[in-house]
Amino acid sequence: MALGDLPTGEEKRVRVQDMFDRIAPRYDALNRVMSMGMDQRWRRRALDKVDVGEGDSVVDLACGTGDFCELVESRGARVVGVDFALQMLKQGQGRGLAHPAVQGDGEWLPFQTASVDVVTCGFALRNFVTLDSVLHEIARILKPGGRAALIDVDRPAWGPIRLAHSLYFDRIVPLVGGLVSDRKAYAYLPQSTAYLPPPDVLREMLSGAGFLEIDRESLFLGSAQILTGVRGPLMPDCETNS
Ligand SMILES: C[S@@+](CC[C@H](N)C(=O)[O-])C[C@H]1O[C@@H](n2cnc3c(N)ncnc32)[C@H](O)[C@@H]1O
Repeated sequence: MALGDLPTGEEKRVRVQDMFDRIAPRYDALNRVMSMGMDQRWRRRALDKVDVGEGDSVVDLACGTGDFCELVESRGARVVGVDFALQMLKQGQGRGLAHPAVQGDGEWLPFQTASVDVVTCGFALRNFVTLDSVLHEIARILKPGGRAALIDVDRPAWGPIRLAHSLYFDRIVPLVGGLVSDRKAYAYLPQSTAYLPPPDVLREMLSGAGFLEIDRESLFLGSAQILTGVRGPLMPDCETNS
């Protein structure tokens, strides 16, 4: 689907929030099935890449039901989850997860400038209304030298694999998601990859937001990606939004 057919601006914010509130009850189960169990492996890989461990303060942006938060805590780090969909947060609480979580938007994070060691974000980059603002906001709350690990889906580049992936992601996922959960939401899921900028643009955006040592790792034949970066020195204009 072309970007022109997808919602933008406030309409996107409202639709995405409403969609995740609706699919929250079945989100975890469907997520595991649809990623064939690989999603947790990818989260662990992301945490390894930015070396999350004992004593780190971590913000998990767009935490959903708390999968990333749980893995972060298991490494002895302190984590706060942030998500704008209240039902996703409640679903996480229902799982008995112990980490604090707040309802908030990625474009206005409720944390002081240069106050956290790591920001993680799983499968949400394509959902933000203005990705560039969110990347700047992540950079703002990170201490200089702080790390970011961002995962999202991707589309394989090589023809035959791209075709097989498209059959699964564009046909089977919406079909199964529609039967078990919400037809509109699981039709939107593959369509929303159109919001994701290509790799070189993502790198430029991270660099423009103040990140150094930017790395992009492609996962499972190009069906997902991990972006990591280290927060560079503070710029004077980052001090304002604390
Ligand atoms: C695909 S889910 C991923 C959840 C979780 N990170 C995971 O790895 O399973 C995307 C999440 O992003 C959240 N989200 C989307 N846009 C957001 C925004 N602007 N601010 C905060 N959360 C947002 C949604 O509510 C949803 O919980």
